[in-house]
Amino acid sequence: MTVKPDLAHYLDIATEAALAAGAVLQHYWGNLEEIQEKGRPGDLVTEADAEAEAVVLKVLGRHFPDHQILAEESGQQGNQSSAYLWAIDPLDGTTNYAHQYPFFATSIGLIIEGVPQVGVIFDPFRQELFRAAKGLGATRNRQPIQVSTVNTLNQSLLVTGFAYDRREIVDNNYAEFCHLTHLTQGVRRAGAASLDLAYVACGRLDGYWERGLSPWDISAGVVLVEEAGGRITAYDESPFDLYSGRILATNRHIHRALSTELLTVTPSTFPSKAL
Ligand code: IPD
Ligand code: CA
Ligand code: CA
Repeated sequence: MTVKPDLAHYLDIATEAALAAGAVLQHYWGNLEEIQEKGRPGDLVTEADAEAEAVVLKVLGRHFPDHQILAEESGQQGNQSSAYLWAIDPLDGTTNYAHQYPFFATSIGLIIEGVPQVGVIFDPFRQELFRAAKGLGATRNRQPIQVSTVNTLNQSLLVTGFAYDRREIVDNNYAEFCHLTHLTQGVRRAGAASLDLAYVACGRLDGYWERGLSPWDISAGVVLVEEAGGRITAYDESPFDLYSGRILATNRHIHRALSTELLTVTPSTFPSKAL
């Protein structure tokens, strides 16, 4: 007999951790002393990222000392043989945060046997708490949420993003961005993948695609979108792979149309070299 995981309990502990991280982000908002580049130009890290991650690890470590952890700033740790993997982005939207552009969040996802099953995303600036667990639905500030009913690209508002390697490679999403901007009511580049997914889940946006992502950016958000009635796949509608770096997330109604358009785009050769 297999024991059913207590997803509601994991959801509550993830919430406790995300709220604690949010308090750290609020504390450092507008008061950063250290803004450094991690490697690639524009890939920033601050003392807020490190401290927020530390409080998340403390909460999760206290409750689940035998689980596995994949945290953006401190990497893979914990019990490598556990079927439970927490994917943590302590500050998603660091560039926004460092510039005091208020669109950022803490994202905590729980992947059980390879499948994202619990997700919490907390935006401390707007005090919006997004939560979901497989089979238990999705909420915003504890009220149920659903994806939008928009069913044509023509009527849709989309969102995407550009990874930090965008200056180095041709497949940098610029061509897709231009193509979809032409066919829709707009394509936003808001700068925090977790909130992009949360906004699809609550119907503010109708679809999202991006490449070059890590599991900590999207694990929580995919649970939210699916539990809110949306659909998550690869660009070509094949099954979603959390480790592929690519995601197509929609309200379900525009999924086929958005997939079709993404597949028609040839990567842009602009700019021909790093500026
Ligand atoms: C980034 C944001 C951004 C996305 C990048 C991510 P970070 O995360 O989610 O929206 O376009 O690909 O790396 O670095 O702010 O945690
Ligand atoms: Ca991120
Ligand atoms: Ca981050």
